[in-house]
Amino acid sequence: MKKYLLIVLFVIISFPVISGEGMWLPIFLKQLNEADMQSKGMKVSADAIYSVNNSSMKDAVVLFGGGCTGEIISEQGLLLTNHHCGFSQIQSHSSVEKDYLKNGFWAYSAEEELACPGLTATFIIRIEDVTQKMLALLPAGIMEPERDLKIKELAAAMEKAAVEGTHYTASIRPFYNGNQFYLFVMETFKDVRMVGAPPSSIGKFGGDTDNWMWPRHTGDFALFRIYAGADNKPAEYSKENKPFKPRHSFPVSVKGVQPGDFTMVYGFPGRTTQYIPSAAVSTTLEVANPARIKIRTERLRIIDAAMRSGDKLRIQYAAKQATIANAWKKWQGESKGLKRMNTIATKKSEEEAFQKWAADAGKAEYANLISDYETTYAQYRPLLKTNDYINEAAFGVELIRYARAYNKLAMLCEANPVDEKAVKDEAARILAGAKGFFRDFDEGTDKQLFVSMMQMYMNDVDASMHPAYLKEQLAKNKNNWIAFANTLYAKSMLSDSIKVRTLLSGFTSSKSKKLLKDPAFILAKSFAAIYLDKIETDFVKLNTKINTLNRIYMAAQMEMKPAHMFYPDANSTLRVAYGNVSGYEPADGVTYDHFTTIEGIMEKEDASIEEFEVPQRLKELYKTKDYGVYGVNGTLPVAFVASNHTTGGNSGSPVLNANGELIGTNFDRVWEGTMSDIDFDPERCRNISLDIRYTLFVIDKYAGCSRLIQEMKIVN
Ligand code: ARG
Ligand code: GLU
Repeated sequence: MKKYLLIVLFVIISFPVISGEGMWLPIFLKQLNEADMQSKGMKVSADAIYSVNNSSMKDAVVLFGGGCTGEIISEQGLLLTNHHCGFSQIQSHSSVEKDYLKNGFWAYSAEEELACPGLTATFIIRIEDVTQKMLALLPAGIMEPERDLKIKELAAAMEKAAVEGTHYTASIRPFYNGNQFYLFVMETFKDVRMVGAPPSSIGKFGGDTDNWMWPRHTGDFALFRIYAGADNKPAEYSKENKPFKPRHSFPVSVKGVQPGDFTMVYGFPGRTTQYIPSAAVSTTLEVANPARIKIRTERLRIIDAAMRSGDKLRIQYAAKQATIANAWKKWQGESKGLKRMNTIATKKSEEEAFQKWAADAGKAEYANLISDYETTYAQYRPLLKTNDYINEAAFGVELIRYARAYNKLAMLCEANPVDEKAVKDEAARILAGAKGFFRDFDEGTDKQLFVSMMQMYMNDVDASMHPAYLKEQLAKNKNNWIAFANTLYAKSMLSDSIKVRTLLSGFTSSKSKKLLKDPAFILAKSFAAIYLDKIETDFVKLNTKINTLNRIYMAAQMEMKPAHMFYPDANSTLRVAYGNVSGYEPADGVTYDHFTTIEGIMEKEDASIEEFEVPQRLKELYKTKDYGVYGVNGTLPVAFVASNHTTGGNSGSPVLNANGELIGTNFDRVWEGTMSDIDFDPERCRNISLDIRYTLFVIDKYAGCSRLIQEMKIVN
């Protein structure tokens, strides 16, 4: 007994974990979280984090591109995010001659900063709760899908009114599964330039092997800069633009982290589903995850081999491979974690308690909720599987996915009467995008994907869902998939940029036969037809049904537990998570520290494995221990873990200390905690942050880009 107590005490002392569960809305921090946050160590007020009338931390947080977060770290619009968030920008500026992926990129002067067409950075100007307004306008008893349509219509009008006469945009988003509504007013900058990126041997160190894992040694950061017009407002790219003067920028702290320290993460988490029923969890565990993992394992086997064959393919497939591999690995960790947590059983007993409550409280409207879920998911599962195989396997072949993008052009040509101007514009649009597509496309690799994915589809998907055209063509090629692939890629006009140019230059509807008869186009169309003819109707209906049940179940759970603080699921809107710096026990008998150092980089170094190569210059700095003010105790900190609740989209988010100073950049979660999108385990869910001192060290000592250090406000 005594021994047991000692162990318990030891665990409590070594990991004083603040349960970091929750992704909170900045506008409610004052009301819901401030006291709790301060009791856990926060020294600033909720107003310092979010305020509409005064500058606050929210003014230094941006939605970076489509799906990452970035933070402003200087008065000149310098933006810090992850290397993997800037990866496709770094890749698109790279070539075999100027290999920024391999060698890194540093702008030693403002003139060298590189324009990134299409890249945006979006600030949140204000957030408003419009739930009451919205609900008041919704007809009583209206149900999905009509309810969704009505909301869309009402939202459009409110959004328009909210930004009338400004350069802002607005968006109203549903929260708590469509029970509440919030308006976001945003300011989007369109001239965002690349400023610095370490080589992949720092920024992607450990690669896919270490991805989603702790202990971690990835220097996962990249720097950009927001440019604005003369009036400091968003402007299209122009040489005349100047660095944006932000309303707030984060001071950077080199004081470091100690276990137990308060931390918060401010960013744009993408999607979580914390309140779903057991039937949804088992669908993920038994249908979606296994199918997607299996398909991607095979795609990655082919792509990885191609990338190892030489620099050209390595660069062409780098960004695509990283995206495919990232979710592939996460699903595996998620499935493992859900099983270990017994999430299905826990949810089932919650559902029983819920049903008992509903019966006792006489809530007849909830009597069939759980059984409705069961029957809906039973019908949903086979459709989901085929849908996943169409998306992941069939459209995992790039030629097939690319050919599908010609559908609009084909439809315009088949319209009666034909709008020749629209045809011409659409052909021009496709032609403009062709260069980018074929730049990263390798016919040999894609043929292998075709052979493998088509066989997998035929083997794993019910015969009633096999496209007739696929079967016909296979027979024509004497059941030889390789021969089939060779004829398909040779005959199709869509398999290389020269043929595409030939097809599309001066395109009018009179030339449409060529497209409509193209074998890749027909094949893509026949897979799409499986979806449209055999899946869509029921799939959409069932999705709508699930959404309706989710809305009702969410409201019911809130009704059942009026004192419980429910946080809304992530939906790519601005949130604050808070927790503390803390190691964890990943498994019986194993304890992980809260931080890593450069020693671990050198331990992992392996010149024979690309993922674990260490740049020569870093080795030299290590030898001389030339860490400057960034080192501590004779070594250099690299990353740390804390108990903040984060998800995809939080990548690049500022990690702040009790004073609201920047101590790191969020970039990942730990393997044992990847199920936190569905089930958060305070014992094992940790977010991984890059220690800002390693970032500064790489900029300053490794790259010698001291002009960037000088524009930051560094606090010691
Ligand atoms: N797992 C991290 C995230 O979800 C990092 C991904 C990038 N790294 C990689 N090896 N693919 O985005
Ligand atoms: N790497 C993820 C991202 O791109 C963050 C890790 C996570 O999913 O928590 O957002």
